This record gives sequence, structure tokens and C-alpha cells, in this order.
Amino acid sequence: MKTIQLGTSGLKVPTIAIGCMRLNGLSESEAEVFLRTAIDLGANFFDHADIYGKGECEKLFAKAIGMNSAVREKIILQSKCGIRSGIGYDFSKEYILESVDGILDRLNTDYLDVLLLHRPDALMEPQEVAEAFAALHQSGKVRHFGVSNHSPLQIQLLQKAVKQPLIVNQLQLSIAHASMITQGLHVNVDDEGALSRDGGVLDFCRLNDITIQPWSPFQYGFFQGTFLGSDKYPKLNEVLDTIAAKYQSTNTAIALAWLLRHPAKFQPVIGTTNRQRLKECVSAADLYLTREEWYRIYKAAGNTLP
Ligand SMILES: NC(=O)c1ccc[n+]([C@@H]2O[C@H](COP(=O)([O-])OP(=O)(O)OC[C@H]3O[C@@H](n4cnc5c(N)ncnc54)[C@H](OP(=O)(O)O)[C@@H]3O)[C@@H](O)[C@H]2O)c1
Repeated sequence: MKTIQLGTSGLKVPTIAIGCMRLNGLSESEAEVFLRTAIDLGANFFDHADIYGKGECEKLFAKAIGMNSAVREKIILQSKCGIRSGIGYDFSKEYILESVDGILDRLNTDYLDVLLLHRPDALMEPQEVAEAFAALHQSGKVRHFGVSNHSPLQIQLLQKAVKQPLIVNQLQLSIAHASMITQGLHVNVDDEGALSRDGGVLDFCRLNDITIQPWSPFQYGFFQGTFLGSDKYPKLNEVLDTIAAKYQSTNTAIALAWLLRHPAKFQPVIGTTNRQRLKECVSAADLYLTREEWYRIYKAAGNTLP
């Protein structure tokens, strides 16, 4: 599996991350086979969050993978906190520290490689986050830090207080949810495509060497379903199938190769729990679409150019 550097960290990671949000749809023995397949394929970066399955995904992961120090050395673990059931969001120092202890306990490990703040908290105090991160770093509980669903200004506000570099921003991004790319193509154009929904997060992350991890790389809307094989996206599916035939590949791999072709060096977080689809996804790391193919796919999804 090809690797990229995660942000400015020096940490080498596989170019495709395994998302664990849907892991609790598997039994323990199914999860064991799935996770072993991922590791055998070189996909040893796992993305969690304290809220996935209300903590059950992290617990199942640790059991299924047979977590011990030898296993831990072979994998890279990322998790997230900050979404608080019954309240909304909570980036207070106490809640971050308490959440990480819960994550480590469920994952049966004594450290996380990466901790992300899951969604912006309107009541966030940068100094409190800085104190929490400093304590987690000093104690060895967390090695690297990042955010998810954050705008450039929110990252700058946090980074003003936080001493550790924020190396990741995990954001929704797929062929069918590509406004962060579209707005960069419609600069100063008087149309819908020029609408900035994220404050120019793509260019900001590239300028600051923050790795963007696209989440839901095969979904459209907000968890409305996959565009692959969907009758809502006939043109896109036709183009993906045509290009897949050329590369003797699959629509899944081509859709992922579309993200991997972008020079920002994204690390997509895939959510499949199906071993065959996992293999197709991993094969995307070896594909390199032409410029013509990239724009053809982009337009086939209904994305526009000025
Ligand atoms: N930071 C955030 O706010 C945030 C939000 C959401 C998710 N995430 C992370 O991103 C990861 C991925 O999210 P996701 O699961 O929504 O991503 P996804 O990879 O776009 O979607 C996976 C789902 O689509 C199905 N699927 C994929 N290809 C398919 C096809 N060709 N036909 C039918 N079904 C297909 C999969 O089913 P099969 O299992 O059968 O393949 C699975 O249910 C999560 O695990 C989580 O780690 C982060």
C-alpha cells in the first residue's frame, strides 16, 4: 500500500484509512477476518470516534483484533471526541480528558496515534483545548492532534493556543459532495458553484500541510446512500464503469482513485465492512487517472466548470 506523510508529523500512513463507524454491523468473528484482511493488505490505519456505536465499535475493534502490545505496534489508531450526547458539542478540558480515557479503555491501549476534535464546538475556549492537548501529549496518551469538520479560521483560532501542530482535518468529500473543489474553480464567478461553504478549507490545508481525510467517499448528501449504482447518478455511473473497464478495475476503485488523484494527497476514510470491497478500495492506490478522466468524472456527477 502506498503511503503519505500525515500533515507535518513525519508519520508515514497508508493512503487509505479504514473507518470503523459501521464495524458494529459485524459479529466479532466477522470483524476479526475483516480487520486481519485490512492489515494484510497494508491498510493498518484505523479511524474511530467515541460515539461510533456509542462506544461499541471501539470495544469490538479491540476484541476482534486481539489487542496486545505486539498488535498495537503494527497499527495506527486515530479516534475523535467532542460530540456529547444529550448536549451537542463539548471541547472543555475536563470532557476531552475524560473522553480520551474512555477511548483508551475501550480500545485496550495506552496511547492514540492521532486524536481529532470531531465537530466544532461554539463554546470552545482555545486555551482549554491547549491545556487538554498538552496534558495528553505529556502523559503519552496522544501523540498527534487534529480536527474534523473545521474551517480555516477555526483551525487558526485553535492553533493560536495549541502548541502541538494540528495535522489532520477530516471533512466530507466525494465526487458527489465536492463543493470544496468546485468553489476553487468558480472564483469570482456569479453562480452557485462559487458559493464558499467552508472558507477555502482545501487551499488552507494545502498551504499549511494539513492532511485532509475525506469521510464518506462513496456517499451523496448527508448519509443518504452511495452514488455507486444509484439511479440518481446515471451519467456518473456510466462514466465510472467505462473508465473501470479501461483499467480492468471496478467503479468503487475508480471513485476512490478520483480522490487519490488530487495533488492535495488526501487520505480517504472508507467505511466498507465488506472484504471484497475493501480489496477493491486498496487497489485504487495503484491507479492514476489522467487529467481528462478526472474532469470527466467530476462533470458526470453534476459538478460544474465556469
Ligand atoms: N468526521 C466525521 O464527521 C465523519 C462522519 C462520518 C464518517 N466518518 C468516518 O468516515 C468513515 C467512512 O464513512 P462512510 O461509511 O459513510 O463511508 P463510505 O465508504 O462512503 O460508505 C460506506 C457504506 O457504503 C456502502 N457501499 C460502498 N460502496 C457500495 C456499493 N458499491 N454498493 C452498495 N453499497 C456500497 C458500504 O457497504 P458495504 O459495507 O457493504 O461495503 C457502507 O455501508 C466512517 O467509518 C468514519 O470513520 C467521519
